[in-house]
Amino acid sequence: MQKLKIRGGKPLRGDVRISGAKNAALPILCASLLTAETLTLRNVPQLNDIGTMLKLLAQMGVTAQRDGETLALNAGSLDNPVAPYDLVKTMRASILALGPLLTRLGEAKVSLPGGCAIGARPVDLHIKGLEAMGATIRIEAGYIHATAKRLKGARIFMDTVTVTGTENLMMAAVLADGRTLLENAAREPEVVDLADCLIKMGARIQGHGSDTITIEGVATLHGAAHAIMPDRIETGTFLAAVTATGGDIRLLNTQPGTLDAVIEKLRDAGATIASSADQISIAMHKRPLSINVRTAPYPAFPTDMQAQFIALNTIASGTAVVTETIFENRFMHVQELVRLGARIDIEGNTAIVHGVDKLTGAAVMATDLRASACLVIAGLVAEGETLIDRIYHLDRGYDHIEKKLVALGADIERCN
Ligand code: UD1
Repeated sequence: MQKLKIRGGKPLRGDVRISGAKNAALPILCASLLTAETLTLRNVPQLNDIGTMLKLLAQMGVTAQRDGETLALNAGSLDNPVAPYDLVKTMRASILALGPLLTRLGEAKVSLPGGCAIGARPVDLHIKGLEAMGATIRIEAGYIHATAKRLKGARIFMDTVTVTGTENLMMAAVLADGRTLLENAAREPEVVDLADCLIKMGARIQGHGSDTITIEGVATLHGAAHAIMPDRIETGTFLAAVTATGGDIRLLNTQPGTLDAVIEKLRDAGATIASSADQISIAMHKRPLSINVRTAPYPAFPTDMQAQFIALNTIASGTAVVTETIFENRFMHVQELVRLGARIDIEGNTAIVHGVDKLTGAAVMATDLRASACLVIAGLVAEGETLIDRIYHLDRGYDHIEKKLVALGADIERCN
């Protein structure tokens, strides 16, 4: 199994190009199921999760041609509306095939994802929404089996803000009969990117980016070309890393406007940050100040940045209170950070991080995607050598992270 070896203590300097967003690419790949014509995507990141989604789409009958960051998908011979357990259990986002399959073919059989490392993560709101649109849904042998002649537009209120839930229902509604209103919808930029792509395919959507999305169903969609938005979480991870290690970097091909909450917090920590249309520059030349964080749906502070900010707080001056409100079990990185010398107390959904003068390298284990990013940041600031095990989590969501960090001057290598 591959590991990442990091010798910490070096500041980061130089330019880094941000890749396309994993969480925008995954639903947009599923949008290809909605039409018999070709969907051409640019800025597609090279990630294991993208590979898993392509496998899933391939066994449904979708053909894919990839050339670097460009991907052409065609679901003209879509014939097998099944997302099997084998693939769904490795990637929960496979649930995003449910809405598109059902609305295009009238049937979908998607494995229930089950629990995952960061909590229970139910999909009840996806199912309730489709039922409100007239689908018949049975849970059989671990699968969600949904059928509907043609979905009907409906008013759907989601009592919890769900990102993939909003995306699934939006994709189902674009080919439904009549108008769908999604209320308390997720406002995440990835939802907006998906809506923009669907509109290019002929969908009629309004209000994306607000908490009420209106979709007028159409009979068919057509092919289109779309560039995936830059990854705001990858951007935020590099920003948090340089705030922790010190240095001076420039992020290219990013979208500063999607990171307001993160940038504000890093300024509070003492970083100097300037941004233009698609670039962010950050400089940090002192010990960071500790910063309190409370995760919540967009535009508030993202749960996908919580672990990286705990890493930053471990060596900050002062004590920080970090509250996780989205997932109930998302502090598994904390015990690994303690192995590096961090002082952190957990009380319910809150981590109290007492900044220490330094971390010291040790062997640690990644438990999920963002926890891995947190351990990379901790390894970059720790004295001596940190060896991170189970980095397959990292490869699910970060495009060539160690190559990008080496180019910024970090001492980091992949080993077996
Ligand atoms: C997406 C992101 C993930 C991010 C998360 C929150 C993708 C592929 N993944 O995950 O990186 O951490 O948003 O920003 O985009 N919930 C229900 N019932 C449902 C659905 C969700 O109760 O049917 C709850 C969840 O348990 C959780 C909350 O809603 O407490 C938010 O989850 P949700 O936004 O659905 O997360 P994902 O879409 O799975």
